[in-house]
Amino acid sequence: MIVAVDGPAAAGKGTIARRLAEELGYAHLDTGALYRAAALRVLDAGIDPDDAAAAAAAAAGITQTDLADPRIRDDHTAKMASRVSVHPQVRAALLDHQRNFAAHPPGGAKGVVIEGRDIGTVVCPQAERKIFLDASIEIRAERRFQELRGRDAKVTREEVLKDIRKRDEADRSRAVSPLVPAPDAYLLDTSNLDIDSASAAAKAYVLGGVGLP
Ligand code: DC
Repeated sequence: MIVAVDGPAAAGKGTIARRLAEELGYAHLDTGALYRAAALRVLDAGIDPDDAAAAAAAAAGITQTDLADPRIRDDHTAKMASRVSVHPQVRAALLDHQRNFAAHPPGGAKGVVIEGRDIGTVVCPQAERKIFLDASIEIRAERRFQELRGRDAKVTREEVLKDIRKRDEADRSRAVSPLVPAPDAYLLDTSNLDIDSASAAAKAYVLGGVGLP
């Protein structure tokens, strides 16, 4: 069973995908972390983000150590991830890993929950369950602000809102694998839901209770 969880930044994908995986005993993959790790390599090596071949080589070289680097969560890294993710070569470099994870869940799990932007449309269009999470941009910016504030005292609400708006536009308008709901996705707007209610709705859908097309 493949559960695809897609949506824009700070819609609640991370928390909901992790909870679903935990409750269902499925393996979990955060594909945004792959793009962030690639971006961190680009930043650390001083690679020109417009150099698609060099960025793709950086993406192909990511390791568990890169994925464990706390700097992948920085806003700065997220912006670079959005930038390098426009290159088809970068996306191709990360595709096999994502598809292998879906085909061979680690630990012999019976299913996977994979979160990202293009899981239900491109990476695993055959997924049995597809959730597209969304929330108003103000609410997503507030959530991300609260999350980042703990680590970076200098960040402001206005900056976070501006960055999320920019990243939304870039992720939605890129030519390859843009952020768009799969036609058969269950659309879940979390603007007015707390995390428990949103997780419960997602779980009910996965178990076949509601929202099935
Ligand atoms: O989900 P996130 O905020 O960690 O993702 C960071 C960036 O990575 C996002 O702005 C675009 C890119 N990304 C992508 O292009 N495709 C994915 N499946 C996941 C992330």
